[in-house]
This record gives sequence, C-alpha cells and structure tokens, in this order.
Amino acid sequence: MFDICVIGLGYIGLPTASIFATKGKKVLGVDVIQRVVDTINEGRIHIEEPDLDILVRAAVQSGNLTAAIAPQPASTFIVAVPTPFHHENGNTLPDLSFVESATRSIAKVAKKGDLIILESTSPVGTTEKMKEWLMEEVSSQFQEDDFLFAHCPERILPGQMLKELVTNDRIAGGLTPEASEKAKELYEVFCSAEIFTTDARTAELAKLTENSYRDVNIAFANELSMICDSLNIDVWELIKLANRHPRVKILQPGPGVGGHCIAVDPWFIVSACPERARLIRTAREVNDSKPEHVIAQVKERAERFRKPVIACLGLAFKANVDDLRESPSLHIAEKLAAIYGSDLIVCEPHIDKLPKCLEGKATLEPAEEAIKRADIVVLLVDHKPFKKLPKRILDQRVVIDTRGCFAGGGA
Ligand SMILES: NC(=O)c1ccc[n+]([C@@H]2O[C@H](COP(=O)([O-])OP(=O)(O)OC[C@H]3O[C@@H](n4cnc5c(N)ncnc54)[C@H](O)[C@@H]3O)[C@@H](O)[C@H]2O)c1
Repeated sequence: MFDICVIGLGYIGLPTASIFATKGKKVLGVDVIQRVVDTINEGRIHIEEPDLDILVRAAVQSGNLTAAIAPQPASTFIVAVPTPFHHENGNTLPDLSFVESATRSIAKVAKKGDLIILESTSPVGTTEKMKEWLMEEVSSQFQEDDFLFAHCPERILPGQMLKELVTNDRIAGGLTPEASEKAKELYEVFCSAEIFTTDARTAELAKLTENSYRDVNIAFANELSMICDSLNIDVWELIKLANRHPRVKILQPGPGVGGHCIAVDPWFIVSACPERARLIRTAREVNDSKPEHVIAQVKERAERFRKPVIACLGLAFKANVDDLRESPSLHIAEKLAAIYGSDLIVCEPHIDKLPKCLEGKATLEPAEEAIKRADIVVLLVDHKPFKKLPKRILDQRVVIDTRGCFAGGGA
C-alpha cells in the first residue's frame, strides 16, 4: 500500500508527488495520459520547470515514486487535476469534470480512514461535492464519516515551484477539524512555512480571492495603459512616478492576463455570486480586452507598410516559462497571423516547434534574426533573453512594447 496517491501529474501534482517521495513517503503518481506515466517512470519529466528533472529523477531512483494510469490503495489521496472553465448560454462556468472523474477513480480503492485532499483550485463547495461523488460510488460499503476531506490550495509560482513548495505558507481547510489537522500534519513533511487550518469553503474562497486580487490590480494597470495610449502618455513613466507615493504600488501592464489561474479563478467567484462580484467581473473584462487593444495598435502602425513583416517576441502566458495555456500573447500572434499571413515571425525561446494553432501560418525564429527581418516588433513577453537584446537592433523598427521590456520597465 502507498502512503500517498497523487492524481494528476502536471505542474502541481508532479512536484508535489516527487517532494513527498524524496522525504521518504511511498508515493504513487497517477495520470490518465500513458506517455506522462511512462516518462515519469523513466525518471524524466514532460513539463518545463527549473530543477524538477533532478527532483523527479531522485524520487524515482529512490524507489519511492512510481507512476500508474489508475489509483491504488493509499492512506492519502491528493487530487491535482485541471479545473478550467467553459462557456454555457453566455455564462462562464467552472468545469469540474476532471475533479469528478478523479474522485470517482479513488472510489475503486478507497477504504475507511483515508484522507482525500483537493489541491486543484476550485469553486466554493467543491470539496463537499467530492464527498458526495465518492459516497455515490461507495455508499453500500461505507458511512459518510469514514473519510476525511480537505481542500489545500496550491499557490506556487511556475519557474520557482520547488522553492515555493517548501517556503510558501499554506492553508488546510477540512470538511471537519480532524481533516484540517491531518492535512496540516501531512504538508509539514516538506513545508517549512506556516500552515493555517480553516474550513474547506474558506480555503476554497481564499485561493480564488488571491488570484482575483491579482487580476483586479493588473486590470488597473492595463486600464491605465489603454488610457495612456489614448492620451499619448508613456505609461511606464506614469507608473514609475505614481509609485513614488508612499502608499501607491501600481503593477505593470501587459498584453492581457493568461495562464490557468489568474485568468480563470475570478470567474469561479463571478459565477457563484454574479450580482455581487461586479468589480471582479469588470477586471476580467478589462484584462480580456487588452489583447484586442494590442492587435489594434499593430494594425494602426502597420498601415504605412505595403507588406509589413511583424515579429512577435514571446508566446508564453508570462515571462520565463514554457506554458502557452490561455496565453494572451499566443492569442495575439494567432490573430496577427490570420491578418498578415506567413509574414508573421514568432520568437519563443522555450519551445522548439510552433504550437498547432500557428503551424503553417507563421515562422519560428530566434529573436535577433526575426528583428533583423521585421518592420514591426511586438514585445509580448518579457523573457530574460529578450531583456538582454542589444537595443540598437531595434533602431529603424516600429516597436510595440507591451511589457515595458525595452523601456526599462516590465517585471
Ligand atoms: N500550474 C500552476 O501554476 C498552478 C498553481 C496553483 C494552482 N494550480 C491549480 O492546480 C490544478 C492543476 O493544475 P496543473 O497546472 O498541475 O494542471 P496540468 O494540466 O499541468 O496537470 C494536470 C494533470 O492531470 C491529469 N488528469 C486529468 N484528469 C485526470 C484524472 N481523472 N486522473 C488522473 N489524472 C488526470 C492530466 O492528464 C494532467 O497531466 C488546477 O486546478 C490549477 O488551477 C495550478
């Protein structure tokens, strides 16, 4: 029997499973994709995250981490599957189908006393729903209180996951105080920061609140950047000056908000309380409107060229990661490819082939070569290598810098 069974071996599940394994726990990692399972069992990784390869290799070589396609008996189950949203009748609603199927897969091996932890970012009430789904499967053999359920949201930052896994404070929100305590004890195995216990609903809303806070603040910066474009004012200079006020700390604008967290989680609050979540919804709308604003800027500047060659620097949803999911930069590049055809060049140092949506529609080139050929350079992601580009290669180019990378801003 395993100590821990981690369900979903992506950006969250794989580091979590591996760190438990390197701390001596017997861990089974489960994923529905056979390629992921095989890769991990070979001690390799299928995602990009600094030093994760070393951690996974150590975990697998120690014999404490194995991967499989289906759960097996364990004392603790940790669910770290995707929780995206989908659109239905004009509403943006959470898609809990992955959490539901992961929960039902646990039912086949669950036994009395098991601790079941939801790590996926989820709408309020999801941990309670997990209990219902599990009981639907096992009610003939078990009682309601035979299992302990808790929500322990994850707040690690891609690019710094291994450090933050250990050093970030955590929340352990149980359906019962006993579940909260058990979850807290579990994470103490590797977490050196404080672990706060609460109830599951508060834990669920706490995680959504953190990302909505970020979204609202980024929306303020993005709105300012669009106001500045209308008023012909340099937004980077403006924010730098305003931030000299001792109690003002405006974030930096960008091409929009992407990824599977900040651009998604606020909708879980909006869909739960549409009448109340007015500011949160508006922030989402402001951030979602920013890519169209950037596309309009490019179109306006491209008018003076007969056949403009455009270089888009960056496709990832944020700096220094390979993750293109929900990326506003990718959306912008896709739209520009549809308008300007194969004269679009994209530069993304973290990938070696074009994503499907750009295949045959653009070319992938190193930044310096792309800039040499381009009339218009659109900086979409402030990846480290772009910051190091010699500024002189931008001379004679029209530059649209959505991250303030060349203005000395960004971050
Ligand atoms: N990536 C982040 O930075 C981050 C940060 C905090 C919270 N989260 C949250 O953590 C959760 C997981 O995110 P992620 O980035 O690790 O996702 P991911 O897509 O990288 O990984 C999820 C994995 O789960 C697998 N999966 C799906 N359904 C399954 C099932 N029924 N059984 C077994 N495996 C299954 C998928 O094949 C995939 O490999 C999400 O709710 C996300 O919002 C992510």
